[in-house]
Amino acid sequence: MATARLSRKRARTSTSAASTSCNVHSRGASIRPHLVVVRPKPDCRPTTYFRKDFRMAKRLTQLQLLTELEPVAAHNLNRHLSLAKEWHPHDYVPWDGGRNFAAMGGIDWDREQSRLSDVAKAAMITNLLTEDNLPSYHRVIAEHFSRDGAWGTWVGRWTAEENRHGIVMRDYLVVTRGVDPVELERARMAAMTKGFDPMSAVGQADIDSDELADAGFLHAIAYVTFQELATRLSHRNTGTVCDDPIADRMLQRIAADENLHMIFYRNMCAAALDLAPDQALEAISMMLRNFQMPGTENPNFRRYGALMATHGIYDRRQHLEVVVMPVLRTWKVFERNDFTAHGERTREELAGYLAGYEKEILRFEERRERIAARKASKQKTPAPSS
Ligand SMILES: [Fe+2]
Ligand SMILES: [Fe+2]
Repeated sequence: MATARLSRKRARTSTSAASTSCNVHSRGASIRPHLVVVRPKPDCRPTTYFRKDFRMAKRLTQLQLLTELEPVAAHNLNRHLSLAKEWHPHDYVPWDGGRNFAAMGGIDWDREQSRLSDVAKAAMITNLLTEDNLPSYHRVIAEHFSRDGAWGTWVGRWTAEENRHGIVMRDYLVVTRGVDPVELERARMAAMTKGFDPMSAVGQADIDSDELADAGFLHAIAYVTFQELATRLSHRNTGTVCDDPIADRMLQRIAADENLHMIFYRNMCAAALDLAPDQALEAISMMLRNFQMPGTENPNFRRYGALMATHGIYDRRQHLEVVVMPVLRTWKVFERNDFTAHGERTREELAGYLAGYEKEILRFEERRERIAARKASKQKTPAPSS
C-alpha cells in the first residue's frame, strides 16, 4: 500500500495542535465540519466526538481516517510525552561483571558461565529477537501512518523508544554471559534477514482486496494494541523467571514502556471505533482471528514458545484473559450500540471466534494435564529388575 501522506497544510495544522493539545478541539472546529467540538475539560482529556451522520457515511478511506483521527493522535502523543520517563540503557547493566572474550585476550562463552535457567534463556532470547526486529514493525507503522504532523512525530518517537529495549537486553546478556553471544548473533541475523510482517496473515485471509487496501491503518493499530500488551506481559514474566533482581528491574523498565505504547494505540483504536464503528471492528476482529506474536521468524520459536507457555510466561489463556478480553472490555465492544447490521454480524463472528478459542484452550490444557500425569506415573513406577 502506498504511504498515505497528509497535505503540508494539514501537517502545519497538526504540528501546532500537537504542541497545544488543550486547544486542539476548538482549533479543529473551523476546519472539520463533521466534528462536534466540546470545550476541553480541565484535565484536558480528549473531547472530540464524531457526528452520527459522518459516522454512518460510506466507508472511510485510509487518508480520511488518518486526517480525522489526527487531533486524537496529537492529544495522545502529548499525553505520552508527558508521562514517558527518560531512562538510559547503561544504567541497567552490571558492567563490573563483564570481561573480554577470546578475540581480545579473554575467554569465550561457556554454558557454565550462565546463571540463567533454560526457561529464562529461552524467554530472554525470544523477547530480545522480537525487539531486534524493530525495522519490520517500523516499516508497518510507517507505511500505514502518515509521516506528517502528530502521526510522523509518533512513529519516530515510538521507534526510538523501542530501540532502547534491544540495546539494554543485549548489553545485559553479553556482559553477564547469560546466553551464547555467537548463537544469539546468528539468530539475530536469521530473524532480521527474514523479517516479520504481522499483516501477512490478514493479507492471506478471505477479505476483499479493495477493503484490505483501505484497512491497513486500522489493522496496524489493532495489531499493535494487542502486541504491545502481550510484549509487556512477556517481559514482566521473563523478569520473574530470570531470578536476578538486575534482570527483573531492567525488564520491568521495558514493560513500563510497552504499557505506555499500548495505551497510545488502544486510545487510537477507541477513537477509530467512535469514528467508523463497523470498519474498526472489522479490523479488530480480523487481527484477532489471525493474530501472530512477533517471533515466528526466530529459529527456535516453536521450542522456546512451548517452554515459555509451560512455565507461565506467555500462553494461550494469558493471551485471551490478560491481553484480548481486557482490551475488548475497555473498548466496550460487546456493549456498544453504534454498529450497523453489518457491524453486528462482525461482532457475532468475533464472539463466536472467542468462544471457540476458549474451547481450544480447554482442550490444550486437558491434553497438557494428561501428559503431565502420564509422566508423573512413569516416574513413580519402579524400573523392572534385570
Ligand atoms: Fe519493545
Ligand atoms: Fe512497545
